Amino acid sequence: MNILLTGGAGYIGSHIAVELLHAGHHVIVVDNLCNADAKSLRRVAEITNCEPLFFQTDIRNEAYLRQIFAANRIEACIHCAGLKAVGESTQKPLEYYDNNIGGTLTLLKIMHKYNCKNLVFSSSATVYGAADTLPITEATPKKPCTNPYGWTKSMIEQILIDIQHAAPEWNIILLRYFNPIGAHPSGKIGENPNGTPNNLMPYITQVAVGKRPQLNVYGNDYATPDGTGIRDYIHVVDLAKGHLKALEALSRNCGLQIYNLSTGNGYSVLDIVKTFERVNGIAVPYKIEPRRPGDIAACYASADKAARELGWRAELGLDDMCRDAWNWQKSNPDGF
Ligand code: NAD
Ligand code: UFG
Repeated sequence: MNILLTGGAGYIGSHIAVELLHAGHHVIVVDNLCNADAKSLRRVAEITNCEPLFFQTDIRNEAYLRQIFAANRIEACIHCAGLKAVGESTQKPLEYYDNNIGGTLTLLKIMHKYNCKNLVFSSSATVYGAADTLPITEATPKKPCTNPYGWTKSMIEQILIDIQHAAPEWNIILLRYFNPIGAHPSGKIGENPNGTPNNLMPYITQVAVGKRPQLNVYGNDYATPDGTGIRDYIHVVDLAKGHLKALEALSRNCGLQIYNLSTGNGYSVLDIVKTFERVNGIAVPYKIEPRRPGDIAACYASADKAARELGWRAELGLDDMCRDAWNWQKSNPDGF
C-alpha cells in the first residue's frame, strides 16, 4: 500500500517506517523536522534497505500537501505529526492547538479531496486523565485533560469520531499509546530529545552515559508499593507493529475503532531504574524530589481489545526496553 506517514522522522514515526518498509509498503513521510533530524530516515533506509520518500513540509501547508496527494496515490495515512511536550503546551497553548488541531484539519481536508479515507491516529493515554479504575480499558470514560497537549489529542479524537459518523465510508483507528520507550534493536534509531528530556527513559539513558549527574525521581509518596509513579511502558517496536495490524483492520472496512496500545503491566520509576541497572550493568544514581505537578500515581491498561480484534500483543518485556534504550544511547551519545 502507499502510506502517508506524518511525523515519520520522529521517534515513533521512524520505528513505524521501519515496520512498514519491512512489510513491503511504500512509505511517504511528511515531517517539518521541528522535533526531528532527517538523518533518522537515512538510518531507516540502512535498517531496511528501502528508502522512504520524504517531503519536508508542515502539514498545515495545504498547497504542498495537495501536491503530495496529487503525485502519489495515497491509500492510507498514519498521522503521528504533532507537538508532544506536556509542560511546553501549558506555556504555548495556541501553538499546540494550531499545530496539532490545525495540522490535522488540513490533512483531513486534503484526504477528503483526494478520496483517501483510511486513517490511523496517534492518540495517547493522556485522554483518560486520572482514571477511577485500573486497568484502563477502551470503555473507561475519558476525563478532563490537565494540559493543552492532552486536550489536542482528546479534541482530535472527537473530530475524527464526528467525521466518521457523518461519512461512514471513512475507516479511522484511534491508537491510544501508553508509555513508549526503548529503541530499534539495531541501535540505529531511537529517542533523541532536544534539550533536557521530559520523559523518564531518555533521562535515565543520559544519566547512564554521563551527560547528567543523576535522575530526579518525582515523588516517593504515592499510594504505590514503593511510593513512586507506575506506568505502562511499551517497547516502541511493539508499538510500531500495532500500526501494521491497524492498517489491516482499515482494509477490512473497520469503521471507527479505538485501541489501547499497552502491555497491561505497571512498573514503578524505581522498577525501571533497577531493571536498567541490572540489564545493562551500569549505575543510575538518583535523588528523590517532590512530585511533578500534573502527574498521577498509577496508569496501566488492558490491551485485550487489540489482541482480540487486531491480533496484536506486545511481545517485548522491560528487559528488552532497557537494553535497547541503552544500546541506542551508548551508540549515539549525541543523538543522530
Ligand atoms: P516526535 O516529536 O519524535 O515526533 C513527532 C514528529 O512530528 C516530529 O518528527 C516533528 O518534527 C513532526 N511534526 C510536528 N508538527 C508537525 C507539523 N505541523 N508538520 C509536520 N511535521 C510535524 O514524537 P513521538 O514521540 O514520535 O510522537 C509521535 C506521536 O505520538 C505524536 O503525535 C505524539 O503526541 C504521540 N504520542 C507520543 C507519546 C510518547 O510518549 N512519545 C505518547 C502518546 C502519544
Ligand atoms: N519521572 C521521574 N523523573 C523524570 C521523568 C519522569 O521520576 O525525570 C516519572 C514521572 O513522575 C512518572 C514516570 O516517571 O511517574 C513517567 O513519566 P514520563 O514523563 O516518562 O511519562 P508520563 O506518563 O508522564 O507521560 C508520557 C508522555 C505523555 C503521554 C503519556 C501517556 O509524556 O505525553 O506518557 O502516553 F500522554
